[in-house]
This record gives sequence, C-alpha cells and structure tokens, in this order.
Amino acid sequence: MEVVSSSELDEFVDRVRERSDIREVVGNYVPLTFKAGRYWGCCPFHSEKTASFTVTPDKGLFYCFGCHVGGNVFNFLSKIENITYFEAIKLQAERLGIPIPVRNKSPEEMKVEQNKKTLLKINELARDFYHSRLTKGPQGESCRKYLVSRGITENVIKNFKLGFAPNSDELTKILIRRGFSYEQLEAAGLVQKSSYDDGFYEKMKGRMIIPINDIFGRVVAFGGRTLKNDADVAKYLNTKETAVFVKGKMLFGLDRANKKISAQDYAIVVEGYMDAISLASFGIENVVASLGTAFSEAQAKLLTRYTRRIIFCYDSDEAGQRATVRALPIVQQAGAEAFVIKVPEGKDPDEFIRRKGKPAFAKLIRNATPMIDYRIDFVLDHSKHDSYDEKVYTLHEILPLVAKIEDATLKNAYARKIATALFLDETSVKAEWEKFSTGSKQNENFSAGRFKIQEKSKLEQSIEVILRTSWGEVEIMDYVLSLVPREFFPEKYQEIIGYIERCYKEDRVPDDLDAAKELDEKSYAELSRILSPAASRFGVEEFVQQDSKAFTDSFEVIRQAWSKIHYEKLLTEFYATINDKNKSFDGELPKIAQLADKMFSLTKIED
Ligand code: UTP
Ligand code: MN
Repeated sequence: MEVVSSSELDEFVDRVRERSDIREVVGNYVPLTFKAGRYWGCCPFHSEKTASFTVTPDKGLFYCFGCHVGGNVFNFLSKIENITYFEAIKLQAERLGIPIPVRNKSPEEMKVEQNKKTLLKINELARDFYHSRLTKGPQGESCRKYLVSRGITENVIKNFKLGFAPNSDELTKILIRRGFSYEQLEAAGLVQKSSYDDGFYEKMKGRMIIPINDIFGRVVAFGGRTLKNDADVAKYLNTKETAVFVKGKMLFGLDRANKKISAQDYAIVVEGYMDAISLASFGIENVVASLGTAFSEAQAKLLTRYTRRIIFCYDSDEAGQRATVRALPIVQQAGAEAFVIKVPEGKDPDEFIRRKGKPAFAKLIRNATPMIDYRIDFVLDHSKHDSYDEKVYTLHEILPLVAKIEDATLKNAYARKIATALFLDETSVKAEWEKFSTGSKQNENFSAGRFKIQEKSKLEQSIEVILRTSWGEVEIMDYVLSLVPREFFPEKYQEIIGYIERCYKEDRVPDDLDAAKELDEKSYAELSRILSPAASRFGVEEFVQQDSKAFTDSFEVIRQAWSKIHYEKLLTEFYATINDKNKSFDGELPKIAQLADKMFSLTKIED
C-alpha cells in the first residue's frame, strides 16, 4: 500500500470522469430518448408519468425540470445508489476497471476504527448475556411471562435475540473481567456514571431487552422496556447515541427485513420495535420501525435502496397521524411512493394483528390509502369548513396537494371527492384548481394565509409556450424575433430571451446550469418555473412531443397582440400625417400610402 497524495487523487477522479459517459450511466437506470438536443426520460428521483428528466452528454450533466435535481455523473450515481459522492466515484471506477488508489489510514482514523470495534464487541457480548438471562434460569422468569402475555413466541425471541437485564451488576462485572474498562462500557451506553458517587450503574436493569442492529446485523444499541405498569417509569429506554449508533440514520429491523422488502417491493414502517417484532411473528416480515423519532430523509434513502413503495403504519392517535403527515413528503422527496395504513379503533399494529389476525392486517395493507388521499383527509379532519370563507380556505390548503396530478380521470375523481367533502360545487372546485395550476406554483398569496390567485394572461401563457419550445430548438426564437420585436416582450422575459438568442448565435444548446450562471437570480427562477411542467397547461410534455399546435396557437396570440399595438401606433401616425396642416398632402402621400399598406397587412391577421 502506498500513501495517496491529493494530486494523485485528483488525477484519479479526472480519469474516471473522462472515461464516464453520462448517457450510458444514466441509461442503465432510466430509459432515454433523444429529442430536441438532449436525452429525455422519466425522472428516477420523483414519480412522474411525463418525461421531464434530461441528460446533456456533451456537458456531462443531468437535470430534472420537475424536481430540479441536477449535476454530473457522480451526483447522479450517488443519488440513485444512495451512496456518498466519493463512493460514487469509486463505484464508477470499479465499473470502468480503473484501479482505485489505496492509502494507509492515519493513526487518528485507526483509533476511531478500533474504538468502534470495541463498542461493537461489548454490545455483542451484552446481547448474548441478556439473551441467555431471558431464556435460561430463574432471573428471566417474569420477563418470559410478560412476553407470553404479549403473544411473543420462543421462535421470535430467538430470531430477534430478545433479552432480559437482571436487577444486578452482573453484566458489568463480566465485561470488566474480560478486560473492558468502565469508560468503554460508558462509551457503549451500557452504564452511566452515577451523579452522587464515582460509581457506574447499568441503565437497563430489570428491563426486557430489544437489540438494535445496523444494516449488517451488528448490534449497535438496545431498547429496554419496563415490565412494570407504572406511569412514573419510562416505558422504554434506548441506548444514547454513540460512535456506532446514530438514531436518525437507523431503521430497526432493516437487517432482517431488507430481503423481504426487495422481494415484495414494498416496506411497512411502524413506530415501535414491538410493532415490528409482532408483525414479523405473524409472518409479515417486510417491516421496519422508525424508533420513535421523526422519520428522516436518511431513513427514506435507506429504504429506497430496496423499494420505492413505502407504507406507513403508525399508531392511529393524534401523534401518530401528525408523524405520518410529516413523513409523507420526505418519502416523496426521496423518489418513492407513500401509502398509509389506518389502524382502526385507535390501536397500534401490534394490538390489531393480535386481536384480529393476519388476514385482517393483510386486508389493511391491500386497502392502504395513497399519500394524496391521506393528506387531503388530514386537512379535512384538522380544519373547520362550515362557512363559505372556511371552505375556500380549506380548499386552498388542499389544492397544493393535488396540483401535480395530470391524469384527467384522476383529476375528476379528486375534484369530486373534495367538492363532496366541502359541500362545494364540483365545477367551482375545478375552476379554482385550474387557476391554482396556472397561477404561480405554490402561490405566495396562499402561503400568506389568504387566497387570491391572479390568472396569467393568455399572452403570458403563450409567451411561455414559445420560451419552452425554443429552449429545445433555439432557432425558433430567431424566427419569432424576426416577426415580433424583442422590446414587445415584458421585462421579466427579457433576460431569458437574450440567453436563448445567445445560444442560437453561439451555436450552444441551452443548459440549465449554464443559464443559472448567465441569468440573474430572478430571471433564473422565472425560467425554472416556465420550464417546469406544473407551470402551465402546456407543459414540458407538449414541448417534448413538439406539439406544433400549441406553438402555432401561442405564436398567433403573440403576433396578434403585437399587431394590435403596432396597428394602433401606425394609426396614430397616419392621422397625425394627414392632419398636419403644416405639411402638403402631396409631399406626404408616399408615406401615407406606406402606412396604409402596413396597416392593411396587419388587419389581415387581426381577428
Ligand atoms: P409506543 O408508546 O407506541 O410504544 O412508542 P409501543 O411500541 O406501543 O410499545 P408497547 O407495545 O407498549 O410495548 C413507540 C416507540 O417510541 C419509542 C420506542 O422506540 C417505541 O417503540 N419510545 C416510546 C421511547 O423511546 N420511550 C418511551 O418511553 C416510549
Ligand atoms: Mn404497542
């Protein structure tokens, strides 16, 4: 092994980048078709039916107009494989057969690694100790009874290596005898320093023990449940965060469940470890628990390694519902579909399956509510909508949840559902929806609390169609500008038009990342909105399909609008000329004729 210098590393990265063909790499994950100067496909990072994900091979970049992720080949790999940027470089190097430079670890890194190994070893010994105390001997008697009362079988106890922590310092003594120090036991989270003397005491004493494994099946922490029915005692204690246990990045049960999750292509996420254990004991094994913390982005990413369909089955109390509603957008953001199981009668999944059995739970799975419906129901359940004002307000809390639906049948179904729930007329719900979709995305007026949407004028909509079309084919802008002067377009489009024009003149393909550099912030935001499919009824879809009708119609609107202005200007000039007493009529005749000619040619395209 040799020590790798930073220049060697740079060289390695450059070599991998040069040899990587982004179209080929992305093509392994996403089917791509060539259209309008770039490759298009359905974005793997958010769910969509219309292609708005693009790859520009000569720039080595990808970009999604829908969810605005973009970057180079390594960004793509790291996102899609859920690995770090550097891991993506290494992965690509391996695929290309480029040797990865190796280096010695620094003494500091060696120490950190050694420390983690020690903690893992301590945990493993502790797990085996707890497990044997539960399964053998008189100390575990009460805990065994408790587990029987919860319907936990011996098989499950063995599979999950459940345990019992006796009411003594036995574990500490054993570990100290094996050569570990109190400090190490404390670092592992097993003991805590006493606040009134120098001693250490075991935290889990008298509790039932649930080992928490990392994805490789190594024990990184423990959950301990009290056997007492005492409100003054914490029901669960968890190991504090340690060098090997980072709560928000863990999912309980994933080491056992991952294969089932892949095979069944969906995962069930529950709140508590006992829920996961209980479902597993009934043979429902594609289950993980989020350990009682808010579901995190890191956890969503962990799951999307195995599936892109995630079902939440949290407790049906208010806290569980709120946690669910918060988790859903995180799943969507991670590019997966989310569903929700509502456990009836205020039970958690463990209680439900024990009372009603596996077929009843299987039915709940089959009837899992899609994310959008759950979020709509949540808004309806948590808002007042008796007065007309309240109804309108609630409607506009719901519209952002449905705004991205493109399918006409689905749209109708949701409009009906919303209208029925709010006792509103279906047509007016649809009208508001249209307005919301054509208005600026996530309307500012709305987030301010009050709802007021200004519909975009037909002219503005048309200009945006032209901009979208010429984004794919820059010569179109040149054609448009040969017939309509640039000054005619509103100020907010000027920079964007300028950029497209420059691309045409310099023979460049418009690129979002380039545009980000060349446009000011406001114009770039405007551009992103215009190019995003949700921005208008004429979306990227039409652009990709090169919908010439949308283009022709829009261009006609622009031409007429401009003609009108132009005509009025000419008319003023015309009257000024014939009414000017200081000028001889004869002398001005050619000019008058010319103006009349121009006006005549313009009136032909007037409606
Ligand atoms: P619940 O209170 O819903 O527990 O907490 P549960 O899963 O139904 O447990 P049982 O059935 O009463 O045994 C859900 C999760 O929240 C965390 C734990 O991770 C638990 O699994 N929690 C709960 C704690 O960390 N501490 C607590 O005191 C309570
Ligand atoms: Mn429970």
